[in-house]
Amino acid sequence: MAGKTFLSGIQPTGRPHLGNYFGAIRQHIALQEEQGERFYFIADYHALTSSRDPAKLRENVRDVALTYLALGLDPERSALFRQSDVPEVTELTWMLLSVTGMGLLERAHSYKDKLAHGITPSAGLFVYPALMAADILAYDSTHVPVGKDQVQHLEMAQDMGGSFNAAYGQVFVRPEAMIPKSETLAKVPGLDGEKMSKSYGNDVWIFESGKPLKNAVGKIKTDSRPPEEPKDPASVLLFQFLELFLDASELEQWKERTRAGGAGAPGYGHMKLRLVEAIELHFADARKRREEYVKDPARVDAILARGAEIARARARATRDRALAACGLR
Ligand code: TYM
Repeated sequence: MAGKTFLSGIQPTGRPHLGNYFGAIRQHIALQEEQGERFYFIADYHALTSSRDPAKLRENVRDVALTYLALGLDPERSALFRQSDVPEVTELTWMLLSVTGMGLLERAHSYKDKLAHGITPSAGLFVYPALMAADILAYDSTHVPVGKDQVQHLEMAQDMGGSFNAAYGQVFVRPEAMIPKSETLAKVPGLDGEKMSKSYGNDVWIFESGKPLKNAVGKIKTDSRPPEEPKDPASVLLFQFLELFLDASELEQWKERTRAGGAGAPGYGHMKLRLVEAIELHFADARKRREEYVKDPARVDAILARGAEIARARARATRDRALAACGLR
């Protein structure tokens, strides 16, 4: 297979947050500068495992599309589409499930994690990694830029593709995960210091602004140590957030003053104000672009339709290859 094919997806289960941005979307946009093909999609079939509200799901799907476009997705260089516009992935899911052991799915961290958070699982949630493997394998993806929480899903996609190939001959390309090198980017913390996640309610919407942004940042967990007490910046959650938005030299100054303590040391409130300002600025242009796309839904629809057409042609070819290999044609 010649060249690189980048693929990734985001679930429309809420408004995309800073974790989605730093762990995934920012890489997806940056990869537009590389040689290769790009497929980025809205994982709406996946979202069905948790959604029960059709109007909300539609709104969330639109929101993911607006987010990508606002942040610089160029439809000339990346196919942006809805997963459900490519029904071939559900056929591939079935073919992959048929060569997948129960044990593999039972070991999924994300599934076990959801159970631990009290979510009652559907069968769909259990076989979720097979749908994700189908997404990846359908487009002959070579590189899958995702956050650290998706690494095991990637390994499962490799295993499932490998099992099918072992049984029926070379049908699927082996994909590799691309994870941000910095730990803070690969696993952006939430307001409580746990991984930022839509399902844990500790997230900050990418385009939050004004008072709601101040309120959100206000919730970042701090402790009761006074400003003048010298502190190790690694013990202050706020620094992980500042690291995302400040340039290295400014970040170092804040750290130095925190380490030194005394009268010149910043309080948490002061650091939060700086963070709000930096977030406002970081997304200012994207916020404006988002508003333009909000006003032009037909343009967004046309981009999604074109993306689906490109994606579907590729997925159909892979599906046909898989059907033929396993004896269904
Ligand atoms: P989802 O919707 O949970 O997250 C979308 C992307 O954002 C990354 N991410 C994070 N990165 C760093 N820190 C965080 N706190 C954080 N939270 C989320 C995720 O790693 C992901 O890259 N199963 C996928 C969607 C999917 C998919 C695929 C991805 C379906 N099919 C095929 C890649 C390839 C998911 O639920 O992502």
